[in-house]
Amino acid sequence: MCPSGIIAWVPGIYDEPEFYEAACAYRDVPTEVDALLRWAGRHREPDSGPPCSVLELAAGPAEHARELARRGLEATALDLSAAMCARAGDLAEAAGASLTVVQADMRDFSIPRQFDLAITMLNSLCHLLTLDDLLGHLACVARHLPRGGLYIAELAHPADFFSAERRTSSEWSSEVNGGTVSVRWGGGKDEIDPVTQVTREHVSVTYRRRGGSVRTVTDVVPNRFWTATELTAALRLAGGFAVAASYGDFEADSPVDAADAWRMILVLRRQ
Ligand SMILES: C[S@@+](CC[C@H](N)C(=O)[O-])C[C@H]1O[C@@H](n2cnc3c(N)ncnc32)[C@H](O)[C@@H]1O
Repeated sequence: MCPSGIIAWVPGIYDEPEFYEAACAYRDVPTEVDALLRWAGRHREPDSGPPCSVLELAAGPAEHARELARRGLEATALDLSAAMCARAGDLAEAAGASLTVVQADMRDFSIPRQFDLAITMLNSLCHLLTLDDLLGHLACVARHLPRGGLYIAELAHPADFFSAERRTSSEWSSEVNGGTVSVRWGGGKDEIDPVTQVTREHVSVTYRRRGGSVRTVTDVVPNRFWTATELTAALRLAGGFAVAASYGDFEADSPVDAADAWRMILVLRRQ
């Protein structure tokens, strides 16, 4: 049982890592990793040098941890899903990257070491459904960072929920190695619960492989929307972190309140 008393399992699309990867193939992981290392260089304490170790939380197939391992960092990936953990290990092995994989709950985990940098990518904090979940998570991450260590968390931009026009699309198609993938992730008639701020997002991923086979995976994934001010309040309540910076994208280092910002990326420094 997890701290909030909710059974810690998000079934469906995360049991199908290849479908998940194909759905997320639109990302430019090396560019995102460039940004993570640029921000780490900018916001770590002046004498501490570049980070040597990284912990990716809710890592899924661990594309960022794998890329960081490829660039020489000692990398660990943590995820709740056994299928995702297996996939992360297989992909790292195939790439010749050294990656430690831990199957655990990001709300309550213990790894017997600390890391220079922790990261959570692609709004995976949306799986923390309650304030207790978020506080448990922040306390765990803090225990795994030394003073001056950084935690970089990428969340959805609040404009996706508060503005008349979303800044990200909930439907897209991509060409992937083995064919074409068409994705719907939320949007449409999915409505945010005005009290819990949780949306039951309907997910559908159709993979048309070259050679003719077509398969669709569907799921309903609970997604908690965290506002910027809630995060600030939770960080104060949890203690242990200061906000070193926030960014609205990976390429231009735009501020999170820029008109074209489309992500909410927090750089937190362990106090
Ligand atoms: C949207 S995916 C993101 C994966 C990865 N961060 C990426 O950028 O591709 C969310 C991941 O969170 C994992 N997850 C959900 N709840 C979790 C929890 N309580 N603890 C650890 N991982 C969790 C899922 O298994 C899934 O792999």
